Amino acid sequence: MALMLSTCIFSNSALAVSSVGLLEYIDTFDGYSFKYPKNWIQVRGAGADIFFRDPFVLDENLSVEFSSPSSSRYNSVQDLGPPEEAGKKVLKQYLTEFMSTRLGVRRESNILSTSSRMADDGRTYYQVEVNIKSYANNNELAVMPQDRVVRLEWDRRYLSVLGVENSRLYELRLQTPENVFVEEENDLRQVMDSFRVNKVNA
Ligand SMILES: *[C@@H]1O[C@H](CO)[C@@H](O)[C@H](O)[C@H]1NC(C)=O
Repeated sequence: MALMLSTCIFSNSALAVSSVGLLEYIDTFDGYSFKYPKNWIQVRGAGADIFFRDPFVLDENLSVEFSSPSSSRYNSVQDLGPPEEAGKKVLKQYLTEFMSTRLGVRRESNILSTSSRMADDGRTYYQVEVNIKSYANNNELAVMPQDRVVRLEWDRRYLSVLGVENSRLYELRLQTPENVFVEEENDLRQVMDSFRVNKVNA
């Protein structure tokens, strides 16, 4: 019994050590907040309202965007339909953004999960999780099929949390290589769960 207990305590503290620690980012002007790994750095001019990335893994990053304050009329995230419907829209958006004009590029995508939850602020948030793989043909023009070698270019996890406030739709998006996701899943899920939208003074 004593042995079991100490094993348990040990594994708990090991978990705490492996976690990098999170900092909170609060945007009172645009009305949202979230937590992010404290060693991540902010990148300006990356197109989103806010953008952070891992200092070492360049393709591990997160961003927040929201619909136009003047023209959007969202009442709640349910305006997107049920989570499964929202998931399809999110995937379509990803695929449009990542569209490649290169010859011989093929994308394979899977919606891994869609869910809805009520956070401690009483608001409903949707979460969508997607895997996308990109394959490239290194010799698209080869006449012989055996000369067209297909190789995996990247394999990534995309996670989006959607929330509505101030008549706007907000999205926190996290993108990371699958192999990194496996290692950091615990921290990354905490980031996703921390996303909140807040009322701003009009
Ligand atoms: C963010 O990560 C994605 C892939 O996960 C990558 O394609 C993109 O270039 C990164 N963005 C920046 C600005 O580093």
